[in-house]
Amino acid sequence: MAEVVIVESPEAGGVLVAGHIATQVRADPEFTLGVATGSTPLPVYAALERERAAGLDFSAVTAFALDEYVGLPRDHPESYHSVIRREVTEPLGLDPARVHVPDGDEATIATAGERYEAALAAHGGVDLQLLGIGTDGHVGFNEPGSSLASSTRVKTLTARTRADNARFFETAGQVPTHCITQGIGTILRAGHLVLLAFGAGKATAVAGAVEGPVTASVPGSCIQLHEHVTVVVDELAAARLERTDSYRWVYTHKPIWQGL
Ligand code: PGA
Repeated sequence: MAEVVIVESPEAGGVLVAGHIATQVRADPEFTLGVATGSTPLPVYAALERERAAGLDFSAVTAFALDEYVGLPRDHPESYHSVIRREVTEPLGLDPARVHVPDGDEATIATAGERYEAALAAHGGVDLQLLGIGTDGHVGFNEPGSSLASSTRVKTLTARTRADNARFFETAGQVPTHCITQGIGTILRAGHLVLLAFGAGKATAVAGAVEGPVTASVPGSCIQLHEHVTVVVDELAAARLERTDSYRWVYTHKPIWQGL
């Protein structure tokens, strides 16, 4: 079962997850972090930046991003190459040579999925994968119906995801129609999945992912197939979960040595 941790605020969730990552990086400076874009992981990155300010060195950490838009120039401010550089690589002081984002260039897109899988395999995979969840239940850009065994490949964004992401663009029409995303099978190969969700808009997706049936119709439900999952939610995102009393009981009584 996924461990569900209900936190007071996104900031508290960020501090909790960043504290765990910092412990891992202290133990293994060459830790490999799977990074996510979107608004949800920003409190984690902010808290990691404070760890850096307090002296933690991230320069040997490797990062792999989940996804990228297809056809958006890398230097476009909303390409995930740009977002990861702005929100992760620069503030944390990662070595840009160790930061990997899928190649969304249309000219080379046909082989981009297999090249990304090869890079992940050659590196030895991801130690901890940060995940957000879409209001439609997607993880990465694996929209409802995505194969639970999928690898990195090109996908078509749903109208709902394009509408959700329109806030990052000047007009809704500028949101790309296609993306390249790690598959659900890829995500499940990471050592530890940390799924974060904040706000009432995520409550249905969280309930489906954590307590619903495992189904491609709710890609986030893939977390139930993984042996080490931490779900960090605020009260609003937890609102439709049925076993919150149990989650609080378990977390309150968790032996400290277990960490996340
Ligand atoms: P958000 O996106 O963090 O911006 O809400 C999450 C997602 O689409 O996976």
